[in-house]
Amino acid sequence: MTVSSAPGKVYLFGEHAVVYGEPAVPCAIERRARVTVEARDDDRLRVEAKDLTLDGFTVEYSGEGGDTPDVNVPTSLVEAAMGYVDGAVEQARDVADEPEAGFDMTVESDIPLGAGLGSSAAVVVAAIDAATRELGVELTQEAVADRAYRVEHEVQDGEASRADTFCSAMGGAVRVEGDDCRRIDDVPNLPFVVGYDGGAGDTGELVAGVRALREEFDFAADTIGAIGDVVREGEEALADDDVSAVGKLMNFDHGLLSALGVSSRSLDAMVWAAREAGARGAKLTGAGGGGCIVALDETEATRTALNYTPGCEAAFRAELDREGVRVE
Ligand code: PMV
Repeated sequence: MTVSSAPGKVYLFGEHAVVYGEPAVPCAIERRARVTVEARDDDRLRVEAKDLTLDGFTVEYSGEGGDTPDVNVPTSLVEAAMGYVDGAVEQARDVADEPEAGFDMTVESDIPLGAGLGSSAAVVVAAIDAATRELGVELTQEAVADRAYRVEHEVQDGEASRADTFCSAMGGAVRVEGDDCRRIDDVPNLPFVVGYDGGAGDTGELVAGVRALREEFDFAADTIGAIGDVVREGEEALADDDVSAVGKLMNFDHGLLSALGVSSRSLDAMVWAAREAGARGAKLTGAGGGGCIVALDETEATRTALNYTPGCEAAFRAELDREGVRVE
């Protein structure tokens, strides 16, 4: 039996603009998905998923697909989850050159689903790591990241960026620009606090909305360029260990994302609650439209304030996680 875990992530800077070739800085957070894998002596795949922000569900089906799972969650989510786990198993079979390998897998995650925290990437990364090890192969973190990206790319119809899978596999703060991904060394401690509105935006729709604005208005294209400038300043602030400048730039980034129409009432309410509680900065994270905000605060004030903010379902501390995928 092998257990691997991988972290979720927040965007410190740069979501949406990254789609147009600007750099972005996602950071791994201390919230993980864990995948337990046990090889079977047939070619079947049994997947149990629990402790997700859903009620928990169990899916049992053959590696060939085709069975209809009997579950209590929306079919699209189940299909997506099955797609990710299926894809991870395909990668492991390919790496180990064991096309008939079967597994019992259990997925546990404390990362809210579809809320901008990279939950699916963390599951895929942990699943590939655990399944390949179970077959006797140890991949580097970079190789796991690459294989996980292939799965996300497939499941998301070519829309996925490398950001989530690379960040989850490598841990720490990373810089993503097109296909060029690398870790940023020597970043200061980043005391993240996450506020979650219990919902999720539709990434495809939000990305399409920004694209339409960018085509219609030059100033929307300029706004995307300005986000790129914020990211570059942010990288300097990180290199200088200047956490208060990082916070200011997060605030600026949120304003620009808001101008592009991807914030929401609940995200704005949480951002303002965090700022008023004394956070150094606060912004939405991920595609927006709903889901999560990330704030920087080493005290408990922001988390407490978020807990009293209408529209906030959960608030938790999730510090920068410098470790990526690992065996448990
Ligand atoms: O919501 P997430 O964590 O999948 O982030 C989406 C980030 C975007 O920049 C909006 C889209 C992308 O593919 O980079």
